[in-house]
Amino acid sequence: MAANRIPSYVLNSGSTMPAVGIGCWMGRSGDGEHVVQMVKNALLLGYRHIDTASNYGDEESVGQAIRQSSIMRSEIFITTKLASEDHGRVSDALNKSLEKLGTNYVDLFLMHWPQALLENGDALQPDENPTYIDTWKDMEQLVKSGKARSIGVSNFSVKTLTHLLSHADIVPAVNQVEAHPCLPQHGLLKFCQNNGIHLTAYSPVGKNKFASHEVVMSIAQHHDVTAAQVLLSWGVQRGTSVIPKTETAQRLSENISIIGLTSLEMRDLDVFHQLPGMHHSVCGFHSLLHGGSCFGWTYDQLGWNMSSGGIAKENEDPLI
Ligand SMILES: NC(=O)c1ccc[n+]([C@@H]2O[C@H](COP(=O)([O-])OP(=O)(O)OC[C@H]3O[C@@H](n4cnc5c(N)ncnc54)[C@H](OP(=O)(O)O)[C@@H]3O)[C@@H](O)[C@H]2O)c1
Repeated sequence: MAANRIPSYVLNSGSTMPAVGIGCWMGRSGDGEHVVQMVKNALLLGYRHIDTASNYGDEESVGQAIRQSSIMRSEIFITTKLASEDHGRVSDALNKSLEKLGTNYVDLFLMHWPQALLENGDALQPDENPTYIDTWKDMEQLVKSGKARSIGVSNFSVKTLTHLLSHADIVPAVNQVEAHPCLPQHGLLKFCQNNGIHLTAYSPVGKNKFASHEVVMSIAQHHDVTAAQVLLSWGVQRGTSVIPKTETAQRLSENISIIGLTSLEMRDLDVFHQLPGMHHSVCGFHSLLHGGSCFGWTYDQLGWNMSSGGIAKENEDPLI
């Protein structure tokens, strides 16, 4: 099957990242055979950007799928992530990931979370070593070694990025965060754009939890596409890359078919989160189930502007 033409972004490192990637978090760890099949199907359909992580437990399967495809390594953009338990051993962690992936470099290496975790799962506090500044300094060395073509962060806010930027020699190429019309992150996107940091949207189809809303459906019907295509096209048209996960061949094909939306449709999706009850995260990270904290840090420490209950107040993420 012919590869669809997927737009791409040039990162501040000079590397080119396709705007649509295949997300490899399966919702459970170690689902090897499914991951191999999913990534092989994605590559066959034209995907050239793969998002995985040490914590997903599937780097070996991703590497296997790449080898089984006939596609050259140099044509594929691979992102993997440093686990929070590995903040104190950055270089070793990347070496292990490279070994599992079966490659000698990754295109992008992200700090998965700002928090460092101990082996028992307890989080170090923001001022305890290694801080995320210490970890970033170690990551900067990886660029010099050539083992990571670009480095970046994930789950960083304006607050944590501002602190990082004041100590960084290398500006992160990417910040990967949850972003979709229910959690558009307008302020964070603008901050990243102003600082030369590309924003990648995870959970970009909102885990399919609100795609059937009439606002999304009416745009989809107007273009004769699916709701997921509308959500992903909005993500790309606003300047983010998107990394949807799907194991279904038909959905894999849909998800790389990006369309152009009108400025009115873009506007409707930009303000979608302002509809009553719509401004929320679809991931379990922003939840009072964790006591208003996430992996041991409070929302304030993370710089997350979420109100109690895990549901942001409607005006907390204003359209800027
Ligand atoms: N950096 C981080 O901390 C972080 C956190 C979360 C996720 N991520 C990354 O982001 C990726 C995607 O995030 P996600 O899996 O949370 O959310 P998502 O991609 O928004 O949603 C995935 C869910 O939506 C369904 N889906 C996908 N495409 C669809 C379509 N065209 N029509 C209908 N349903 C569709 C999938 O089902 P089927 O598979 O059954 O089709 C799956 O249940 C992950 O795989 C991971 O790589 C990163």
